[in-house]
Amino acid sequence: MPQRIVVPNAADLRDRETVKFSFTDGEDRKEGFLISRAGTLYAYRNECRHIPMTMDWVENRFLSRDRCYIQCATHGARFEIESGLCVDGPPLGQHLRPLEVLVEGNDVVVVVPD
Ligand code: FES
Repeated sequence: MPQRIVVPNAADLRDRETVKFSFTDGEDRKEGFLISRAGTLYAYRNECRHIPMTMDWVENRFLSRDRCYIQCATHGARFEIESGLCVDGPPLGQHLRPLEVLVEGNDVVVVVPD
């Protein structure tokens, strides 16, 4: 059964702001993050495609200095915000793992598949 994660305050995110959430993956506790871009919310697992580790050394800091890309803090890989495609860095050409985002009234819900 898919998990439905209601992310508090996500509807109030400003452009290029992020907020983290957590979910379970089998026995493991995992993280994801939402990012707002041009009026749309995107959600990804907080897991780099180079090495499966979280991407924010500083809590909830996911963006490159110019705030144009999602950036992994470990080796600096940059990913497009809207598609999750890596355009620079070791996992070049791979995508962050997206999660479905639903807006239900005032709630933002992230759906994590089985
Ligand atoms: S772990 Fe993310 S670029 Fe290496």
